[in-house]
Amino acid sequence: MVLERLIVVGVAFSMMSGVALGADDLQKRAQGMFKPVPHAAPVFKGNKATPAKLQLGKMLYFDPRLSASNLISCNTCHNVGLGGGDLQETSVGHGWQKGPRNAPTVLNAVFNVAQFWDGRAKDLMEQAKGPVQASVEMNNNPQRVVETLKSIPEYVAIFTKAFPGQKDPVTFDNMARAIEVFEATLLTPDGPFDRYLKGDRKALTAKEQEGLRLFMDKGCGACHNGVNVGGGGYFPFGVVEKPAGEIRPVADTGRFKVTHTASDEYVFRAPSLRNVDLTPPYFHSGKVWKLDEAVAIMGSAQLGIKLNNDEAGKIVAFLDTLTGRQPKVEYPILPPNSPTTPQSLLQ
Ligand code: HEC
Ligand code: HEC
Repeated sequence: MVLERLIVVGVAFSMMSGVALGADDLQKRAQGMFKPVPHAAPVFKGNKATPAKLQLGKMLYFDPRLSASNLISCNTCHNVGLGGGDLQETSVGHGWQKGPRNAPTVLNAVFNVAQFWDGRAKDLMEQAKGPVQASVEMNNNPQRVVETLKSIPEYVAIFTKAFPGQKDPVTFDNMARAIEVFEATLLTPDGPFDRYLKGDRKALTAKEQEGLRLFMDKGCGACHNGVNVGGGGYFPFGVVEKPAGEIRPVADTGRFKVTHTASDEYVFRAPSLRNVDLTPPYFHSGKVWKLDEAVAIMGSAQLGIKLNNDEAGKIVAFLDTLTGRQPKVEYPILPPNSPTTPQSLLQ
């Protein structure tokens, strides 16, 4: 009887410690593969953040006068109240034109290795100059943007404060610098997964931990890792199996258009999966609205495996823990036009 109890206790103890060891081990493995989102923006070499620059960057981010129509701001397509996206398959810009790709989130974008689905802009500053000029987005040009900003006395004053000592501070590049500084503050720390990585094992439920385990064991973490659980490298979309033509349209060859190297055909930057629950639809084509469907496609396209509904459900439960505290951004009051401010070009 005593022996029996000892055995039972022994088995129970080893089972418990087995579970505990497994959980410890999972947390350690996760800590080796992912990093929590930090609370503070990184420091840029050559573009130091100052309160004036941050204030200016925020105003510019929300100012539709960067667009030729006076209607479209960065926030139109990267709505900071909607997880930094626009909930469109592909973005709608100047004159209601539909662009070719889905808008990735700006939240935590500063941690991506490079910007855009194909990584064609090396950082946020370079990136910010793109949409202002893209005809299907804001359809403006640098001269007209500078003319607009210079026509507004309050902007001239803030540019002068943000870029002290410069003779002519209102420039297109300085616009991009200020926007970069603001964007770098759009971080989402303290989600359940961040708390788990920082040591709180209870921050993830048993199901979410199973999802994390599957995510690592099945091989998702090979491409989606680091702070952003992605955003760190380039991979073919369709490593093992070609995704359906609608999901990976033939015309968009991805990184090939940047490098002109045959092996880069249909190569895209693995997107960050931070806040992925908030930013449907998915993939560069935006053709998939359901996260479990996107996960299943990843299984077959990237890994050659068929995830069953239970597995996909657990992985989605884990992905939901990547939603962090959303940045609270107070909408800026924008300075008024002057009589010389260019008018909307949208007729
Ligand atoms: C009309 C919609 C639209 C507007 C306006 C717009 N964007 Fe975008 N943005 C997009 C789309 C679409 C992409 C992806 C394009 C691509 O990869 O080729 C993108 C990509 C980005 C990225 C890259 C994110 C990543 O993970 O690669 C950043 C950052 C960004 N935009 C910031 C801005 C800023 C700053 C502005 C304002 C100056 C702006 N956007 C205006 C639609 C828009
Ligand atoms: C070989 C690298 C690789 C592997 C392995 C991989 N992915 Fe991806 N993932 C990518 C790339 C590249 C994209 C972008 C595809 C596109 O739209 O062009 C992507 C896109 C996604 C998206 C869409 C995100 C968005 O915002 O549009 C999700 C969700 C996703 N992956 C989850 C997973 C899961 C879950 C696994 C494991 C079952 C996985 N991935 C395995 C590279 C990979």
